[in-house]
Amino acid sequence: MDRVIIFDTTLRDGEQSAGASLNAQEKLEIARQLEKLGVDVIEAGFPISSPGEFAAVKLIAREIHQPIICALSYAKPAAIDRAWEAIRDAQCSRIHVFLSSSDIHLSLQLKKSRAEVLDTVGAMVSRAKGYTADVEFSPMDASRTQPEFLHQVIETAISAGATTINIPDTVGYAIPDEFGTLIAGIMSKVPNISQAVVSVHCHNDLGLAVANSLEALRHGARQVECTINGIGERAGNASLEEIVMAIKTRHDFLHLTTNIDSTQIYKTSRLVSELTGFLVQPNKAIVGANAFRHQSGIHQDGIIKEAITYEIMNPRDVGIPSSTLVLAKLSGRHAFKERLAELGYVLNEESLNRAFAVFKELAEKKKGVTDRDIESLVAQELRTQTETYRLDHVGVSCGDHSIPTATVRLIGPGSEVLEDAALGTGPVDAVYKAINRIVKVPNQLTEFTVKSVAEGIDAIGEVLIRIESNGVTYTGRGAATDIVVASAKAYMNALNRLLAVRQLAVETEIESRQAEGPI
Ligand code: KIV
Ligand code: ZN
Repeated sequence: MDRVIIFDTTLRDGEQSAGASLNAQEKLEIARQLEKLGVDVIEAGFPISSPGEFAAVKLIAREIHQPIICALSYAKPAAIDRAWEAIRDAQCSRIHVFLSSSDIHLSLQLKKSRAEVLDTVGAMVSRAKGYTADVEFSPMDASRTQPEFLHQVIETAISAGATTINIPDTVGYAIPDEFGTLIAGIMSKVPNISQAVVSVHCHNDLGLAVANSLEALRHGARQVECTINGIGERAGNASLEEIVMAIKTRHDFLHLTTNIDSTQIYKTSRLVSELTGFLVQPNKAIVGANAFRHQSGIHQDGIIKEAITYEIMNPRDVGIPSSTLVLAKLSGRHAFKERLAELGYVLNEESLNRAFAVFKELAEKKKGVTDRDIESLVAQELRTQTETYRLDHVGVSCGDHSIPTATVRLIGPGSEVLEDAALGTGPVDAVYKAINRIVKVPNQLTEFTVKSVAEGIDAIGEVLIRIESNGVTYTGRGAATDIVVASAKAYMNALNRLLAVRQLAVETEIESRQAEGPI
């Protein structure tokens, strides 16, 4: 078999990244895009970890039909039961059970003997198997586990019914050659290994996650666990786009294929960056802003003559549109709509009209509107569709000898007009205080970043913020040519997310009370 199963864990390990927080609707939006991308398995979350997580996994299991929907579980009965409860409505479901196998974890964290681990693996895989035929087992910290014991754990899990054995390099410690040898040893020494698919799950602490994953594939692994933009715990996980494009571009060497529609990669990357608030570094392979830009004269000369001189992939193959300067102030609604479709966005009439109005406004201020500007506009429009409060107007007065003062007007949940004003230490502080006087949700600002979306003094400024409330972090983004307005939009975006999560928590609570019946 030369097809590699792509197991996407953006919504589970990716969401485990410090600072990422997605609500159920955002997770569903990403899951829909992962389905378009063609991933084989979506690890939708870790249902036992919180009621919100449970609700999000359940929603994805109901709504997404093509990929297998997987739920992660501790090797404990209650966690397995909860995982099944969350995914039981899925067309194809998988329970992923994990338990540490390294002596470091056994002696210092779990306080369990090797014999106890073997017993637990057998019992918990069997329990999951009672719910679904598709069970994955991961010996956590496998790359630091003594190989003979690792083989015993794997054999036990397969005997109990595991159909996928995932080998995690949990702490990103492995070196490619060594990891390849570990996989080769598993393939040749575990007696029942032919009854399971071998998978790998590599973290990027030494920047080797993709290299380790590819090496594992060369030694017989046929499933790779990865995330969009490589997000994940600590330094992240192996990046899906890098693995897929390495397999595609170096088919001559690897002789492998995937089911991924690579033209959806760029759009998926942008969506994940947008919703998690994690910016993609410009030099990031495949999806970074500079990944297909040629700066030096000799490179540009070669590209003009024949792209193959300095380009190993066609940007269109990953869904990056080739032109950068597209529309100007005389461009009509039709041209705008066509450009959006080329970029992969289909808006309903109302959203299209609003986005077009903002485009016109921008084109008045800016000579040429780039694809990046347009994406930013659309992202903004999509954000407004889930708003409880909408920013209608913001005005500030400030300067070196005056007290920064802001007035804001919001449209509330019942379309009521709400206005207030406040003083602050600076214009953004004043705006945030004025908004707080209306929305009245206590929170703390923990991060504030401004960046320009494209080149030039007239470019759109994009503001990314994180706020914290009751120990949970919410991300907000806003874009405008005026950075005070962009800051106000980012704050409203974060507040609306916070309100949406609270609303969902209330609904989940009501739902579970109804399910419990009268007391
Ligand atoms: O990194 C890891 O070991 C994991 C497991 C739960 C598979 O994420
Ligand atoms: Zn992991």
